[in-house]
Amino acid sequence: MEERSVIVETRDLVKVYGDGPEVRALDGANMSVHRGELVTVMGPSGSGKSTLLNMIGALDRSTSGRVVVKGEDLSSIRDLDAFRAQEVGFVFQLHNLIPTLTASENVEIPMHGQVKQRQRRKRTQELLDLVGLIDRAGHLPSQLSGGERQRVAVARALANQPAILLADEPTGSLDTTAGREIMELLQKVNRERGMTIIVVTHDRKVARMTQRILTLEDGRIVDDHPVQTPLVEDLRELARSQLGQSLLDRRGKILKEVGLGSDAGLTEQGEYLRGLLVGLT
Ligand SMILES: Nc1ncnc2c1ncn2[C@@H]1O[C@H](COP(=O)(O)OP(=O)(O)O)[C@@H](O)[C@H]1O
Ligand SMILES: [Mg+2]
Repeated sequence: MEERSVIVETRDLVKVYGDGPEVRALDGANMSVHRGELVTVMGPSGSGKSTLLNMIGALDRSTSGRVVVKGEDLSSIRDLDAFRAQEVGFVFQLHNLIPTLTASENVEIPMHGQVKQRQRRKRTQELLDLVGLIDRAGHLPSQLSGGERQRVAVARALANQPAILLADEPTGSLDTTAGREIMELLQKVNRERGMTIIVVTHDRKVARMTQRILTLEDGRIVDDHPVQTPLVEDLRELARSQLGQSLLDRRGKILKEVGLGSDAGLTEQGEYLRGLLVGLT
């Protein structure tokens, strides 16, 4: 496989929020993302997901450690606002559209001062087409469904042709169907435009619609694996659950009791998968 270049990298990233009792939101987070990847950062509430995304997106500065985006160490960039405007697109849980502006006007906003007017119009049309809302261009946010508003937010995030798209719980305020549709849209943007996308979520179903899952716990990346078949992902999830842990603990006994005897010769993974399957039946 062709070696793909790294576009986002964090090294020993630490973020401590001060004022009052200190909170160590990131505690040495190491991760990297390749150009053109669609990845998830998953983890429980409070594990530091938003903080990590905000550091990568230059919304805030780290306490220590490095963030490198497109080969640039963010700590050496003076004008983070300009960097962010040019290189980063954000989608949040709440779409944050301006209620008094139409869909197309909302998409155009980030282009002001960056892109010439005629070009702005053209690009807005293309983006609304990309997200499937060309016939809603003149609608106000209040005249759109939750899923449609989030589509506008995706189009707006792409307005300045950023190098990376960061989405913080993009499906968090949507029902299951609309959430899946937003993930399908992100897949399409990734596939058709080669856009590098990092999605933050605590929802496994969302995570499985990406290519790789990084797990954050207490401010550190504790697991990093490519998304596998639904069965293997189910087993991974089971293995991490209380039930799975207890099955794994009793694996030897279970195998013996059901007469499978020695499990010599199986790979470690095969062995534990079989152990889990045996335990389940
Ligand atoms: N601006 C802030 N000031 C103080 N503490 C914060 C701030 N933002 C986040 N935190 C704390 O940092 C930790 C990680 O938060 P966050 O990155 O929002 O987690 P997640 O997105 O995974 O839920 C939490 O304990 C949270 O309370
Ligand atoms: Mg968060």
